[in-house]
Amino acid sequence: MRIDFDPEQLDRNAFYRLLTATVVPRPIAWVSTTSAAGTDNLAPHSFFSVACVSPPVVQFTSVGRKDSVRNVEETGQFVVNLAPEHLFEEVNATATAFPHGVSEFDEVGIAREPSARVKPPRVAASPVALECELHSTVRLGDSTVVFGRVVHAAVSEAVLVDGHPDIHKLRPLTRMGKDEWGTLGDVLEIQRIPLQEWEEGRRR
Ligand SMILES: Cc1cc2nc3c(=O)[nH]c(=O)nc-3n(C[C@H](O)[C@H](O)[C@H](O)COP(=O)(O)O)c2cc1C
Repeated sequence: MRIDFDPEQLDRNAFYRLLTATVVPRPIAWVSTTSAAGTDNLAPHSFFSVACVSPPVVQFTSVGRKDSVRNVEETGQFVVNLAPEHLFEEVNATATAFPHGVSEFDEVGIAREPSARVKPPRVAASPVALECELHSTVRLGDSTVVFGRVVHAAVSEAVLVDGHPDIHKLRPLTRMGKDEWGTLGDVLEIQRIPLQEWEEGRRR
């Protein structure tokens, strides 16, 4: 037995709460931008994913018109910083609705480091920074999807094992419904089954 939910019958926020409680867990893009006037902005976005492999493109969604999307549209650049578990409270604090001219870096006390290819700074204590040039935006109802071409990736040596980012060292935060957040749980490993192997196995 299932309970049905019709987005046409529910109010916007009720369906939003259902969506964000069921599309889980979501990775968090900790997006840094710089306004045209020069204020550095930092805000978490869990509507975030890889959009294209070649060229490498990532995407995040701004629900409404927030400073991050405004800055990206003004300057054409942003950085996706990985949100690590040890910065849980700092990540949350940067979601506070500070006025446009106030920098979350300064207000929350987050150290910057310069980016290699774009103007917005990186979060110094974040183990991964993806520096992006704006590719395009898509307006969808009350939201704007931002696509950014990754022009540079900077990964802390401390999270690399054999030259590859190690999930146990990255320890990313994730977002779920309500005020719930996730940390790294069990990590399972399994190999993809080649079609030929699958078919041979079935015939036997
Ligand atoms: C973990 C987390 C994830 C969030 N994800 C999003 C998101 O995907 N899109 C969005 O518009 N707001 C999201 N928010 C809310 C924004 O971070 C918040 O509105 C912030 O103040 C926006 O900052 P800005 O105006 O500086 O861009 C999220 C908040 C938290 C704590």
